[in-house]
Amino acid sequence: MTTRTTIRATAFAATGLLLAACGGGSGQDDGKPSFEGRGPITYVAGKDTTGTVQPMLDRWNKAHPKEKVTFIQLPTDADAQRQQMIQNAETKSDAYTVLSLDVVWTSEFAAHQWIDRLPGKRFPMGKMLKPVVETSRYRGGLYAVPSSSDGGMLYYRTDLLKKAGVTRPPATWGEMTAACAKVKRLPEAKGMSCYAGQFQKYEGLTVNFAEAVHSAGGRVTDANGTPDVDTPEAKKGLDFLARSFEDGTIPKEAATYQEEDGRQAFQSGKLVFLRNWPYMYSLAQKSGVKGKFAVAPLPGLNGPGSSSLGGHNMAVSASARNKATALDFIEFMTSEKNTRTFLEDASVAPPYAALYDDKALIGQYPYLPVLKESILRAVPRPRVVQYGDVTSAVQQETYAALNGEKSSERALKDLQKQLRKAVAR
Ligand code: GLC
Repeated sequence: MTTRTTIRATAFAATGLLLAACGGGSGQDDGKPSFEGRGPITYVAGKDTTGTVQPMLDRWNKAHPKEKVTFIQLPTDADAQRQQMIQNAETKSDAYTVLSLDVVWTSEFAAHQWIDRLPGKRFPMGKMLKPVVETSRYRGGLYAVPSSSDGGMLYYRTDLLKKAGVTRPPATWGEMTAACAKVKRLPEAKGMSCYAGQFQKYEGLTVNFAEAVHSAGGRVTDANGTPDVDTPEAKKGLDFLARSFEDGTIPKEAATYQEEDGRQAFQSGKLVFLRNWPYMYSLAQKSGVKGKFAVAPLPGLNGPGSSSLGGHNMAVSASARNKATALDFIEFMTSEKNTRTFLEDASVAPPYAALYDDKALIGQYPYLPVLKESILRAVPRPRVVQYGDVTSAVQQETYAALNGEKSSERALKDLQKQLRKAVAR
């Protein structure tokens, strides 16, 4: 398992290096971005479903009355966020100051000089988890500071598993469907479905596809960064998802699910198992399933699966004003103290290694050590400048296979061709 994971991680790292080399400059024309100007700024991120961001901004604003930050909330859908940020960058607008970038966009935004290269020494990168730090770099430079990490976890109904006589969470897909079959015989499981993830046609689908492929021993690219999805292993991964849709293990409506839809379904008792990110933990603890669920590592084909590496990094828009304030604000939001608060209040996975080993925090979130391992072993999505093309090809072909429009084999052959074209651009 470990060796295979290492090889896969290396394959993606190699992809990053190879393709990143095709990218552009180092941040600004003279290569030395200056962070000058103080005054009001904006913070631009996806909709805050946790309700904890504005209170943190209020604290900043109280302490910095002349450098207030206004929160601009974009849609929850990662692709829609990316589009709006690109539009802002292409029109060289100063409306957005600090951007909360999905970890997969750093190379693209840095290569296009939409974000500034940051003074690396200013931030405590040495205290952060290494794979997380990697997501904030491009061609050796720091372009963003991690504010959160993310690893996929399997949420499951402890009460129902126990009643059905299942004593431990499933480590494989087979164990998961077997456990479901037992649970569904219980009268209280009437009308429930077995499993869901994020299967709407957006970034979440790319995440779930990559996890299925990796969890079946496949990979998205080989060690040289060449796409490698037309393989029996990748087929086993995609087949698991396609078959699960076909036989009802995954309910049909999950084809429209983003993170929040799955969370609502799990919280209202419609699902036995759900793949989701850590943020859901604290919200579910305040819902009808409080005390009736736990989390486990993602299952795989023959043993534990592997997660995609998620998370967000804070960057300074190249066309923004008041960049001195922007840097201070990034320092504030990404500090160990404040990421601890986001963890305590909203179970947001922090970038700092030490928080995963903290006794008090483990008392609150018993899964933290497992999550740390899962983040350390997580497979990054391709770190490519052409990320938009790569992810839309993955989404299109995966969606076709899940809908039954194409066989997994056909979808993977077509995806292989499209990915080759995308990375050659
Ligand atoms: C989460 C992850 C991010 C991922 C997105 C997909 O926000 O942190 O990396 O791309 O979900 O929906």
